Amino acid sequence: MKKILDLITDEMVAAFEKAGYDKKYARVTLSNRPDLCEYQCNGAMAAAKEYKKAPIMIANEVTGQLLGNPMFETAEAVNPGFLNLKLSTEFLAGYLGEMEADEERLGCEKTKHPRTIMIDYGGPNVAKPLHVGHLRSAIIGESIKRIGKFVGHHMIGDVHLGDWGLQMGLIITELKLRKPKLVYFDENYEGEYPLEPPFTISELEEIYPTASAKSKEDESYKESAMQATFELQNGRKGYQALLKHILEVSVSDLKKNYENLNVSFELWKGESDAQPYIPDMVQKMKDEGYAYISEGALVVDVKEETDTKEIPPCMILKSDGASLYNTTDLATIVWRMKDYHPDEIIYVVDKRQELYFTQVFRCARKTHLVEEDTKLTFLGFGTMNGKDGKPFKTREGGVMRLETLLSSIHEEMYQKIADNRTVEEEQARETAKVVALSAVKYGDLSNQASKDYIFDIERFTSFEGNTGPYILYTIVRIKSILSKYREAGLDAKDAKILQAHSESEKALMLEIAKFNSVMENAFEETAPHKVCAYIYDLANALNHFYHETKIMAESDGKIQASYIRLLQLTKHVLEICIDVLGFQAPDRM
Ligand code: ARG
Repeated sequence: MKKILDLITDEMVAAFEKAGYDKKYARVTLSNRPDLCEYQCNGAMAAAKEYKKAPIMIANEVTGQLLGNPMFETAEAVNPGFLNLKLSTEFLAGYLGEMEADEERLGCEKTKHPRTIMIDYGGPNVAKPLHVGHLRSAIIGESIKRIGKFVGHHMIGDVHLGDWGLQMGLIITELKLRKPKLVYFDENYEGEYPLEPPFTISELEEIYPTASAKSKEDESYKESAMQATFELQNGRKGYQALLKHILEVSVSDLKKNYENLNVSFELWKGESDAQPYIPDMVQKMKDEGYAYISEGALVVDVKEETDTKEIPPCMILKSDGASLYNTTDLATIVWRMKDYHPDEIIYVVDKRQELYFTQVFRCARKTHLVEEDTKLTFLGFGTMNGKDGKPFKTREGGVMRLETLLSSIHEEMYQKIADNRTVEEEQARETAKVVALSAVKYGDLSNQASKDYIFDIERFTSFEGNTGPYILYTIVRIKSILSKYREAGLDAKDAKILQAHSESEKALMLEIAKFNSVMENAFEETAPHKVCAYIYDLANALNHFYHETKIMAESDGKIQASYIRLLQLTKHVLEICIDVLGFQAPDRM
């Protein structure tokens, strides 16, 4: 279905041409003065220069061509030459009728050029608990993936586990100290390694911080951990088997955590999966003359003439031959290209890694790991701060674990729900979980990703204002009217949306009609916050309409049924939108 803006532009193009002006002036936009009009065209002002005529004259000639056009309630030329447009509610009702008929997509067409897009998000580090920094990547990445899917692209999410660094060596070292008799440490062992991991997730989560603390105080402990990391990376069998166990235990725990966040990945690959691709990649970079030794390390220059700030070379191998974060990221691009041939790879990572990704992308391009038209996109997100404006911490000043944060929000939400209503405890708990997720996700996504934001539990969990719970509350309100209507034995199945009967109803219709263009735009700009801003406006329009209209008391059955259809459509739009944001609405609140 065409976007409403395009339909209006089509009419405007015809009007400009009939009046004898070039169609390039016929561009229509949403009004920036909603008090005066709904859509506007400023083309007469620009055309005035070319045609050497007063803009208002041109505008008048164009509106002359729009007289009697059923799309418009009014099309006015206003000094000095604005074209102010108001849509007829008949046209709007027809447009919404078409949206309704397209039950699954509500008039948002699938793209004609589907692309394969890999999205690298989540980025948890194995054996380290998830902390709030990982929350943003998960929430934003998941939403971008869902928006892309909805628009019709082939989206592949990859969690890209951090499973190849020093943390692995630390765990191995500590484990060796505790259980030196395990076969994994016997270099002469030839048999099969046990299937059962030698630790549980809670042990693992305790082992890592212990080891990490020890390594900070004890130089020789750190040496051992580095040695273990080196041996692991060079294929020591017992350590590889341990890595497999660490991964298994860690991944099943991570999956649970992500599931609670309604986040899921197509691929559970990690840095370690890039390992087999490193030797050939490095060799090629050397053979083709891109990589050279500088101060012992192997590097590729990535600075460009137009740089205004210093972009250091991309380091490929350390002087001891060890691979780095860069190396795994580059080799990951190699297998991604080989196995999936993506048109684009989007990285949803903390914006403090921007320079790093500039180096990686330039290096990948220069050494031809990707094709010329493969897009590499860095979507850097800002920091989630506490109310004091500083990075979110526990009361004691430690790193806040994601689980701790989420459970405090559940609790806050549960209190609110339990205070207000008389529902069973169990149901209140369930509802609290669903609503809490909306609070966290909407609180995050409603900000432009690149900006820092303040995580304010009180504000995010409020049922009023620009919050997730407010959106859910609006959906629940609609559900409740719809069920009252049904309980009264009524049915709007054969009804249709009629012309608006009030300003507030028309305002609601205008908001609904923007749905397809919002979705497309949110995808093009990788901007879930645009979906949030839209549903906030839509929810406001709905609530305004609800307060001004006696829906259940309406005596004209046709009008009442038309209201009901409008509510259903609003609910449907809201539901699709919150689904792409990654949360759902309960039946009651
Ligand atoms: N594990 C990393 C971290 O915690 C994030 C990974 C981001 N993705 C990537 N391809 N480097 O900082």
